[in-house]
Amino acid sequence: MFSKLVIASGNRGKLREISHLLSPLQIEIIPQSDLNVPECEEPYCTFIENALAKARHASKHTGLPALADDSGLCVDALHGAPGVLSARYAGKNLPNSLLTQDERNNDKLLLEMSKISERHAHFYCVMVLVRFENDPEPIIAEGSWQGIILREYRGTDGFGYDPLFLDGKTEKTVAELPLEIKSRISHRGHAMAKLLQKLGKLSHD
Ligand code: IMP
Repeated sequence: MFSKLVIASGNRGKLREISHLLSPLQIEIIPQSDLNVPECEEPYCTFIENALAKARHASKHTGLPALADDSGLCVDALHGAPGVLSARYAGKNLPNSLLTQDERNNDKLLLEMSKISERHAHFYCVMVLVRFENDPEPIIAEGSWQGIILREYRGTDGFGYDPLFLDGKTEKTVAELPLEIKSRISHRGHAMAKLLQKLGKLSHD
């Protein structure tokens, strides 16, 4: 099918998980930053539109097949926020900020929810793979993961909202789960499993 795949993301947490999820395949995985792909605008209000834009952008700049993951945290009591704005919920970080972008986003979420007792939320992920920039048949797969937003940080692994998101089944936050387990049960893991199934079917058609 193809031997190289560009990953249309600069998020180190995502790159680590996507590389792990794709490790059984015989494909060379290349982060877009290795090929000097400039940051892509994400102006849309849906995950799927942003994912398509990122995948096309990476493929355009590299001439290679590209995989994008657009994902985020959707909190029921906040009508789906932070949603597509998850990465920059607290506004873009200033270069001299003492806190990381993730810490500022998490602090804002804790503050917004300080008086809210309904704490259900889910992570959502949509993956889009294009074989070339204007591929009319992008391969698309999605996944989600239900949980509860805690009132304080727990755990040190992972990225983003992981320390605040409690998985109902394991009773652990995502930041307390090893990568192998997160990859099996997460929104990203589910989306990737479906994407690989679709790819497998295509190669047998
Ligand atoms: P994107 O790069 O525009 O798709 O934004 C993704 C953002 O959603 C990340 O920066 C995190 O804030 C959040 N997010 C997505 N997936 C995860 C996850 O697995 N754990 C924690 N936060 C996540």
